[in-house]
Amino acid sequence: MKKSNQILSVQNLKISFTQYVKGLNTRRITPIKSLHVSINAGEIMAVIGASGSGKSLLAHAILGILPGNATCDGDIIYCGEPLTAEKKIQLRGKEISLIPQSVNYLDPLMRVAEQVKIGLPKKDANKRQQELFRRYGLKEKDGDLYPFQLSGGMLRRVLFATSVRDNIKLVIADEPTPGIHPEALSAILNQLRAFADDGAAVMLITHDIVSALTVCDRVTVLKDGKTIETAKADKFSADGKGLQHWYSRALWNALPQNSFSIYEEVQACL
Ligand SMILES: Nc1ncnc2c1ncn2[C@@H]1O[C@H](COP(=O)(O)OP(=O)(O)OP(=O)(O)O)[C@@H](O)[C@H]1O
Ligand SMILES: [Mg+2]
Repeated sequence: MKKSNQILSVQNLKISFTQYVKGLNTRRITPIKSLHVSINAGEIMAVIGASGSGKSLLAHAILGILPGNATCDGDIIYCGEPLTAEKKIQLRGKEISLIPQSVNYLDPLMRVAEQVKIGLPKKDANKRQQELFRRYGLKEKDGDLYPFQLSGGMLRRVLFATSVRDNIKLVIADEPTPGIHPEALSAILNQLRAFADDGAAVMLITHDIVSALTVCDRVTVLKDGKTIETAKADKFSADGKGLQHWYSRALWNALPQNSFSIYEEVQACL
């Protein structure tokens, strides 16, 4: 049943891949076993977990951009209705926006200013693109460059600018901040907060728990393709006693600003 302000609900998500082994023999692997996450309008949900825990696949399943050898089970409900394959295509880039993890999602053969203009209303696309460049610390002349001519941090800011659109209801940001200088980092986090304050649901996938906690409302913790806990952001405080799962506490306590406890299982996450 949909709660009145719920934008996204993912329940029992399972993702398998068929792979070829030894000639034409195939095998199936299931790295995503049971993911659950729900996000309300006006809320930022941080999604954390070690490398390989399933964060990007969760994002790609919602967007409908899993590779062809993937099969997906479970329920994805968007604004109270099942998010079908057709709807994913229809809503992508309009109501549902992805800030991808990899800068390879940019077109290598198109100047970056042109890429930011895609999907903006034609009549003021130039003005809006220039505003977005200013907001994310990019210079006007950077717009004439191709992706290979920009640094990694600049490319991440371009990616972010491509996601800022009117009528967005769900924003999925997959590691939007690594390699970004502090000013642009806070501009990006503030922009995510502004999306939420305007009524969107925001999924912030990140390894940077501390920065995420400055803007997020709740945190979902993934481990080995499963959701192990969803907690309010304020539970990530002091020694993390308010967290239910030992792994969430271990993640929190492994941070240098906390007790810096070393748990082998959480090293990959930081
Ligand atoms: N196309 C694929 N074929 C087979 N397995 C895959 C494929 N894509 C991802 N996986 C596996 O699924 C698991 C989850 O991958 P995913 O990319 O979602 O991790 P992640 O949590 O985003 O990691 P990171 O923090 O490094 O970005 C990993 O074990 C990965 O090896
Ligand atoms: Mg990832």
